[in-house]
Amino acid sequence: MAVKFGRPIQQKIGFMPLKPQAREAASPSLDLAVRMRRNRQNDWTRRMVRENTFTADDLIWPLFIMEGQNARTPVPSMPGVERLSVDQAVREAERAAKLAIPCLALFPYTDPKLRDETGSEALNPDNLVCRTLRAIKKEVPDIGLLADVALDPFTSHGHDGLLQEGVILNDETVAVLIKQALVQAEAGCDIIAPSDMMDGRIGAIRKGLDAAGFTNVSIMSYAAKYASVFYGPFRDAVGSSKTLTGDKRTYQMDPANTDEAIREVTLDVAEGADMLMVKPGMPYLDIIRRVKDSFAMPTFAYQVSGEYAMIMAAAQNGWLDGERAMWESLMAFKRAGADGMLTYFAPRVAEQLKGQK
Ligand code: PBG
Repeated sequence: MAVKFGRPIQQKIGFMPLKPQAREAASPSLDLAVRMRRNRQNDWTRRMVRENTFTADDLIWPLFIMEGQNARTPVPSMPGVERLSVDQAVREAERAAKLAIPCLALFPYTDPKLRDETGSEALNPDNLVCRTLRAIKKEVPDIGLLADVALDPFTSHGHDGLLQEGVILNDETVAVLIKQALVQAEAGCDIIAPSDMMDGRIGAIRKGLDAAGFTNVSIMSYAAKYASVFYGPFRDAVGSSKTLTGDKRTYQMDPANTDEAIREVTLDVAEGADMLMVKPGMPYLDIIRRVKDSFAMPTFAYQVSGEYAMIMAAAQNGWLDGERAMWESLMAFKRAGADGMLTYFAPRVAEQLKGQK
């Protein structure tokens, strides 16, 4: 990301007085009452008419957690992103709090030895996610913590649900997801984020949380989640890309569909979702806009691993100005109606926002 913003050429020549002939030549030949460029001619006018702005409050920062002490390992397909041991995740939580990032999302890299057919490690109250939730809550109590509910980081086959003879079981999976949500709520999770796309899971998890006294634990539903190729680098990061058998098209949505997203969201809202997410982000801006307009709910976009990887790869090749690509991609979510976004750029963005103040 070495390339810096260029200086706009008009800034240099804007104040030079024109010679009389030049003025004549420059006199308007089109009879236009409306000239859109008037509002664009200076930095201050552009700032004044800007429709969307960006603050650190718009950010949710996803972190990858692993076993170990004082350890960080890079994720090769996500340049600049590392898996962190619990103590390092706490350090990053402190950094996030200083940067006014409101919330972190935690994703575990589970030791392959702990993965099994049923994802049983997901229900271990001392698993990596739960230990990280507790450690961060203790050291950085004021930052929000979100955790995924789905079995894919814990299953030997890499699927989000229970697999029987090639079929992902719905209701049986939901029964396990309720328990996973409870284990996470118990560990201090503020926002349960079911990313599994099973039918009926939001209502079932809400019931389970309420029955256990967790009425104040929120649910951010991955309401419209598509079966996307853009999750590839994430699966590297949590270690499920090599193990995943087949694909997730029997539960995640078909990228060709848009009305179906509205049906999915309608159900999740009725079942008690507090906040909604559309995922991936940039290829699905139309869905973000439809969801925001239809439901007027807090709506979040997930700028997923593959979107991040594309921008970083192009920047590293010198094909794109990575900084500007980052800002433009994030502003697109605001323009589409998102209230915020999960993005791996979160700390970089927040640092730059802080520097601007
Ligand atoms: C797990 C989950 C995935 C992502 C978030 N939660 C992967 C998947 O569904 O296969 C993807 C996030 C990213 O790509 O950044 N269900």
